[in-house]
Amino acid sequence: MTPDQIEIGVLFSETGVTAVVEETQRRAVLLAIDEINAAGGVSGRELKAIAPDPGSDPRRFRSEVSRLLERGVQIIFGCYMSSERRAVLPLIEQHEGLLFYPTLYEGFEFSPACIYSGAAPNQNSLGLARYLTDQVDERFLFVGSNYVFPYESNRIMRDLLQNRGAKIVDERYLPMSPKAGDIDEIIAIIRKHAPITVFSTVVGDGAARFYRAYDAAGFDRSKMPIASLTTGEPELRAIGAEAAELHITSAPYFSSISRPENQRFVTRYREKHGPDAPISACTEAAYFQVHLFAEAARRAEAFDPKSVISALPTFTFDAPQGPVRIDASTNHTYLWPRLAQIESGGAFRIIEEAQAPVRPDPYMIEPQPVGWSDEAAAE
Ligand code: ACM
Repeated sequence: MTPDQIEIGVLFSETGVTAVVEETQRRAVLLAIDEINAAGGVSGRELKAIAPDPGSDPRRFRSEVSRLLERGVQIIFGCYMSSERRAVLPLIEQHEGLLFYPTLYEGFEFSPACIYSGAAPNQNSLGLARYLTDQVDERFLFVGSNYVFPYESNRIMRDLLQNRGAKIVDERYLPMSPKAGDIDEIIAIIRKHAPITVFSTVVGDGAARFYRAYDAAGFDRSKMPIASLTTGEPELRAIGAEAAELHITSAPYFSSISRPENQRFVTRYREKHGPDAPISACTEAAYFQVHLFAEAARRAEAFDPKSVISALPTFTFDAPQGPVRIDASTNHTYLWPRLAQIESGGAFRIIEEAQAPVRPDPYMIEPQPVGWSDEAAAE
């Protein structure tokens, strides 16, 4: 590292079960770094990415973070699975570093060493539960991957759906790398309860295999869609457009958003990574959080985590999804919840979207989303 550089950690997997989405997050961070450096860097310093491949394995995430911290790297962008985040946060806290985590997760967490830029449950599960019970079904079956996020996300979704009068008939988990027989077993259970709506928290390669098996089973997706928080464009590419039609996803970002800020982002991302490169909410959050970091460091005229954290809530950044900002009391982000359905050809058609950014409520204290505009007007 030369004196006019500042090293930052970039920890997303290029291999392993969730590489399908983590690779898009890695690319988004690298794109944002290129943009920032092309515009002169941050206070005259160039951002230099140190980007090992942790292989979708929480233990490797932990050892790579340990190496980064030993090298003096304090700012780290990374992690998709909650098991990855949980593996690294104690180390980052201990060394007074800062993790920017760009993935939706189960909430009920605060770390002074983490900025959460993906959706908390009040920014995705809440709207999805409302939509599903109003428009789709009253009977649900949960299928998840066997790790912390699906269990915790299902616990929240169960409460939200049951409070709206719905019934959860079963809850099943697949191994992280399921065998054909594991998926067949779940399909047989779904068939036994059909017609039913499936809420899936299956991630990575397993999601593609599960959705394809669901298609092969011949369920009528107009009556039995799979609803999810994690199935975005990267997973959709792996499933295949035809097999994914009519399924529903709740997320703050879809690449079809027609804002100029989004069109610019999509164009630059695809110029760099290929005309068909998939982009999801996790990709977009990975991108905008680097810009949040750079602006905070500029305002603070410092790169240390404490100064960056203090500066982060003092401004708004016009992200591709809409203007976003960090909430000082939770370290989470005001986001724009949306719901989309996969249409023929494989595009996500947005069917509902928030009219104002929704305040993060990771502990689900508020029963309803709170609009940022109202609150800002009152300040
Ligand atoms: C996740 O594990 N937070 C998707």
